[in-house]
Amino acid sequence: MDPITALLHDVLEDIRPHDDGAPAGYIPELAAADPDRLALAVVGPRGRVRAVGDVTHEFTIQSISKPFVLALALADRGRDAVLRKVGAEPSGEPFNAISLEPGTGRPANPMVNAGAIATSALIPGDGVDDRMTRIVEGLSAFAGRSLWVDEQVYASESATGDRNRALAHLLRSHGIIEGSVEIAVETYFRQCSLLVTVRDLAVMSATLAFGGLNPVTGERVVSEAVARDVLSIMASCGMYDYSGEWLLRVGLPAKSGVSGGLLAVAPSQFGVAAFSPRLDEHGNSVRAIALLETLGERFGMHLL
Ligand code: DON
Repeated sequence: MDPITALLHDVLEDIRPHDDGAPAGYIPELAAADPDRLALAVVGPRGRVRAVGDVTHEFTIQSISKPFVLALALADRGRDAVLRKVGAEPSGEPFNAISLEPGTGRPANPMVNAGAIATSALIPGDGVDDRMTRIVEGLSAFAGRSLWVDEQVYASESATGDRNRALAHLLRSHGIIEGSVEIAVETYFRQCSLLVTVRDLAVMSATLAFGGLNPVTGERVVSEAVARDVLSIMASCGMYDYSGEWLLRVGLPAKSGVSGGLLAVAPSQFGVAAFSPRLDEHGNSVRAIALLETLGERFGMHLL
């Protein structure tokens, strides 16, 4: 084992005994997750992947899809067009809050559900299939391998997605969504249901860390300007109503998801990701946060 993998292994085993929190309960398929899964991965500038724990275990990407779909919307539509439909301010509210700006009806930011649904509605394409083709291609390029949708989780999300549908109807009432609400919201449910491993998330994170260039495949996925915009929004809004405290403690742009994934980006240095399904009251993974806090302290990763 090389020294960095050995260090990751030590950090993982230090954190393993923490057993606070529980898997997300509001989507039946997520509630069935094995709470003891645990994994950590890091990808450096030359694209070397180091991963420990349940490295091949697949889980749905959930909200971690949001910054990457934002990247595609920025690439396809430009920053001004995106900002007309969704803001860039932390909401300080839970991920499923209404969080619409008074007057304009713009969602606070693209990381809360309302903002993510507005962002998915900006992806070009006539129907869900067209838009998903772009999203699957784009997110697969970030990950460096072909991703696909877990149809069972998608069906579970769609069957229990009344709150997200309500948010989407509100967005349409304000003219934020101009086309079909159903297409926007089903696209969003499908993007959340893409399967990834902790390794995939670390490669996706590294692609943002290296200005949109995937260090494993060498592919330019988005421009440096797009990668920078996405990281800026992740820094202020990526951890929902824990974003401020996260920036204080760990000091890196990050994004979490309700299946227990978490990625953080050390610009120009590395991408890192962790996975553990037990969540705290914000919907963030307890042990993934603990892993990144510990790594951050050992590596001195805080940007500020
Ligand atoms: O919108 C939802 O309910 C989920 N499909 C995704 C939310 C999510 O991951 C929020 N994260 N903590």
